[in-house]
Amino acid sequence: MRIAMIGTGYVGLVSGACFSEFGVDVCCVDKDVGKIERLKRGEIPIYEPGLEDLVARNVAAGRLSFTTDLREAMQGVDAVFIAVGTPSRRGDGHADLSYVYGAAAEIAACIDRYTVVVTKSTVPVGTGREVARIIRENRPDADFDVASNPEFLREGSAIGDFMRPDRVVIGTSSPRAQEVMRALYRPLYLIETPIVMTELETAELIKYAANAFLAVKITFINEIADLCEKVGANVHDVARGMGLDGRIGRKFLHAGPGYGGSCFPKDTLALVRTAQQNESPVRIVETVVDINDRRKKAMAGRIVDACGGTVAGKTVAVLGVTFKPNTDDMRDAPALDIVPALQAAGATVRAFDPAGMHEAEKLLPGVTWCADSYAALDGADCVAIVTEWNEFRALDLKRVKALLRAPVMVDLRNVYNPAEMAAAGFIYTSIGRPLPGAGAPAA
Ligand SMILES: NC(=O)c1ccc[n+]([C@@H]2O[C@H](COP(=O)([O-])OP(=O)(O)OC[C@H]3O[C@@H](n4cnc5c(N)ncnc54)[C@H](O)[C@@H]3O)[C@@H](O)[C@H]2O)c1
Repeated sequence: MRIAMIGTGYVGLVSGACFSEFGVDVCCVDKDVGKIERLKRGEIPIYEPGLEDLVARNVAAGRLSFTTDLREAMQGVDAVFIAVGTPSRRGDGHADLSYVYGAAAEIAACIDRYTVVVTKSTVPVGTGREVARIIRENRPDADFDVASNPEFLREGSAIGDFMRPDRVVIGTSSPRAQEVMRALYRPLYLIETPIVMTELETAELIKYAANAFLAVKITFINEIADLCEKVGANVHDVARGMGLDGRIGRKFLHAGPGYGGSCFPKDTLALVRTAQQNESPVRIVETVVDINDRRKKAMAGRIVDACGGTVAGKTVAVLGVTFKPNTDDMRDAPALDIVPALQAAGATVRAFDPAGMHEAEKLLPGVTWCADSYAALDGADCVAIVTEWNEFRALDLKRVKALLRAPVMVDLRNVYNPAEMAAAGFIYTSIGRPLPGAGAPAA
């Protein structure tokens, strides 16, 4: 089989490379000439563990290629996937579908045989029908069907997620398109991955409902964490006690600085707007969006409090700036709220991130970027762990203490144990885990 993948970002490049690993001939297309040139040279434009080897292996086997020319990519394909960005539209929070619709018009010009046009981008209900309308309008003679195939991979573990997903969702009412999609995902069928076959609109909504539900779960435990601090309870144990209930599940119950990233913030907002537009509001998601925005803004205040109420003239070491570990993605990362707020309060910020600094230096001016964690800590008045990269989990605490001007650590990811940190002489604060007795109400 042969497919074209439009967009070689976090989703398109991973999906394209994984399909080629399944044995499909894949041609990846991007408008970004620089990206395609780098890919042709064997360089990977994003940080994603395992991707470089996967791409190299499939390019060498002749199954994976890159181009900026869609017509060339679409020659003889069974399906073309749209995996372009759908960011929040400035001003109103709706998903900006201009890239998707632009791609649809370009596809129309290139269809030369029966083709399944697949939206892999996260798109609001109704987008697939509009994609079909655009193609039909531009090319009344074209032989095609539209399918929705939302992607659930997570950055940082994207290849494993694509190769062994919890489920694959395919939305189309065309038996012919269903057959093509089943054939493409055949290797997953063989490992008994559940395939949810449904209508276009249902598939589109599944993706938003899933992301919004996860955002609700995170926000719920964040609010419980705040309550824990007031009443002297430990959110880690609360989450464990809750999560062992099979109806609740243990995942996504980690309290922190608020969700960020390329998906949850924009997808929750887009769902809110779709629901409002259809006069069927999702008030729980509206509330979650509001709470999470406030939470990210409030996090700098925790660092200021830990520094004795002011950071004016002080230096804060920030460890981790990406929205989560194992990615270089800075989209809507909590650090984008925290760092400027600290600077506005008069702090100098020294920071280190294992993969995100190249991207972050464009977004966070005035930060001193350091070669490693210990260089960032050198002479700082406080250290804040903002992203839980593995290498921050095993810092040499004696060295940390020696480098800091004061042994103050604000751990926004609950990486360390409060009692152990206190025993090691740190003034340590984390999320929802007061020292036993410290936050208990007066008897
Ligand atoms: N990043 C994730 O973890 C993730 C997970 C699941 C779903 N999604 C969804 O997948 C979609 C893509 O996300 P991403 O993070 O990969 O985006 P991205 O911004 O990393 O990549 C999009 C790419 O599309 C290219 N592009 C745009 N228009 C084009 C056109 N007409 N022709 C060729 N190339 C074009 C851009 O140059 C860019 O390289 C979004 O809808 C997103 O919500 C993302």
